[in-house]
Amino acid sequence: MSQVIDQHITDDYAIYNGDCIEVLKGMPDNSLHYSISSPPFESLYTYSNSDRDMGNSASSDEFFDHFKFLLKELYRALMPGRMFSMHCMALPTSKARDGFIGLRDFPGEIIRAAQELGFIYHSEVVIWKDPVTAMQRTKAIGLLHKQLKKDSCISRNGIPDKIVTLRKPGDNPERVEHTNESFPVHVLQQYASPVWMDIDPSDTLQFRAARESDDERHICPLQLEPVRRCIDLWSNPGDTVFTPFAGIGTEIFTAVQKGRKGVGAELKTSYYKQAIKNIDAGLLESKGLF
Ligand SMILES: C[S@@+](CC[C@H](N)C(=O)[O-])C[C@H]1O[C@@H](n2cnc3c(N)ncnc32)[C@H](O)[C@@H]1O
Repeated sequence: MSQVIDQHITDDYAIYNGDCIEVLKGMPDNSLHYSISSPPFESLYTYSNSDRDMGNSASSDEFFDHFKFLLKELYRALMPGRMFSMHCMALPTSKARDGFIGLRDFPGEIIRAAQELGFIYHSEVVIWKDPVTAMQRTKAIGLLHKQLKKDSCISRNGIPDKIVTLRKPGDNPERVEHTNESFPVHVLQQYASPVWMDIDPSDTLQFRAARESDDERHICPLQLEPVRRCIDLWSNPGDTVFTPFAGIGTEIFTAVQKGRKGVGAELKTSYYKQAIKNIDAGLLESKGLF
C-alpha cells in the first residue's frame, strides 16, 4: 500500500504528504538537480508518532539505519555532479540518556553515512548562533554563568548550525553557469565564507498554525537566507530542487521564489497543509499579486 496520503501538484511545485523514501522511489534516476533539507535531529524533536518519522528513533543506530535508505534513494535520483545539502548541528548528550554530558558530531555522522554510499564531501558552512539565546532556550548547564563557579570544565561553546553539502560523483551534464551580473564577486565572497555571521534567526516562515496536538513538540523552520544562498550557488533556474523533509515549506517556497521547481515530502499532515499555504502565499508575492 502506498504511504503517500495526499499530494498537491502545480506548475511550480509538488508536495507529497507521505514518507520521503516512498516519494523518492517514484523519482527517475539522475533526475534531481539539487536537494536541501533539515533532517529531524534524531530524537531531539519528535514530530509525530509515526514509525516513518525519522525523529522517532530509539537510538543513533536506528536513526542511521532509516536515514541510509533515504541517502541511497537520493544518490540514485540525483544527477551526477550535483549535490545535496543538509542543515544540522552537533547534538548535546545528557547524563540520563547517554551516560555523559558532551556532544555528538551529528553533522560528521551524516557526512560519513553519505560517504559510505559513494557521495563526495563537498562543502560545509557554519552558521553563527547566539549562545545567550541558546542558554535561555535550552538551560544547558554548559552555557550557564553559575556553572563557572561550580566547575568551568563543564562550560562550553554554543553549538552552531551547519550546512553540510555532499556531491554525487560524475560529470555534471547541466552546468550551473553564472555571469558577473547574476553573481558579482562580492556576493561570491559572502557566500564562500566558511562562517555565515549574518543569518537572522527570525527570518523564517510563520509556523504557529501548524501545531495541532500533543504528539508534536517542535517545528524548527530553517531560515530562508541560507536556503537562498545554497540554491543560488548549486542550481539553475528551472532546475528541480527536492526536499525530503518539507516541514512547513521553507525549501520549496525558496526554490519557487528563485524560479526553480520545488518538490518535497512531508509526513505530518498539518505541516503539509501549512506548507501549501506558505508556498502559495510566496508565489503570489513573487508574481506581485499582493
Ligand atoms: C527539521 S523539520 C524540517 C523543517 C523544514 N526545514 C522547514 O523549514 O519547515 C523535519 C521534518 O521532517 C518530517 N519528517 C520526519 N520523518 C519524515 C519522513 N520519513 N518523510 C517525510 N518527512 C519526515 C517531520 O515531520 C518534520 O516536519
